Amino acid sequence: MQNNTFSGLFIGRNLITLKEVDSTNTFLKDALSKSKPFLDGTVIMADRQYSGRGQASNSWLSEAGKNLTFSVLLNPGFLPIERQFDLNMAISLALNDFLNKYTSGAASIKWPNDSYVGKKKIGGILIENIVHGNTIKHAIIGIGLNVNQENFPADLMNVTSLKQALHQDYNLMDLLGEICSIIESRYLQLKAGKTVKLRDEYLSQLYLKDTWALFRFDNEIQNGKIQGLSSIGQLILETANGLRYFNNKEIEFIN
Ligand code: BTN
Repeated sequence: MQNNTFSGLFIGRNLITLKEVDSTNTFLKDALSKSKPFLDGTVIMADRQYSGRGQASNSWLSEAGKNLTFSVLLNPGFLPIERQFDLNMAISLALNDFLNKYTSGAASIKWPNDSYVGKKKIGGILIENIVHGNTIKHAIIGIGLNVNQENFPADLMNVTSLKQALHQDYNLMDLLGEICSIIESRYLQLKAGKTVKLRDEYLSQLYLKDTWALFRFDNEIQNGKIQGLSSIGQLILETANGLRYFNNKEIEFIN
């Protein structure tokens, strides 16, 4: 275990790098349940996760030492639980800001929080909240970003990395410092109540927005056009039968 600091930042001020761990999210969650007093903005980064977790109980596979797998602890006590999607928007936008800089604007956000470059997934976010009363006491922001990995398992369709997209290797610590700084800016916008701005920008970056495309819902592949988001972050889709509202995992993107 190693302790480091990104200068001038609140996020990453306390940086713990681990050679290997089951999951950086689980590590933080376990530490919090044992009342370990980690600073707000602590980042746990691992070279290797042997039980990395993704959305909806999927696993997150990442070649050791090649990619970024890390979790950020935030204490957004100002955020009521019914506004948890606003935090998701801020973090998704931060990763998108970072990726757009490297890919000259080829990045987008696949609802609710996948990072895409072109038509391929390059990163994912797993946010786990610990709620106290009506507010989010701790948010564990887990981020996996494919950086220098060149080959992916054959059954992982439609994935890419910065190296695959841009044919270059990157220094993981440098990228982590940059991402922490961008997350901090977006998080401070959220804290300052700039929700309308975050929502507008999130919508403008949404993969397949305003485009007829194929989706699977109600156990069928059907056409739909993303129109926007409900106040709690449900996806609003125009369909042959009118507008439909979907929660995460009720709808799958086919394109
Ligand atoms: C997804 O797209 O399914 C979300 C993937 C989130 C993966 C990251 S890697 C760091 C952190 N630790 C985990 O076990 N998961 C998240």
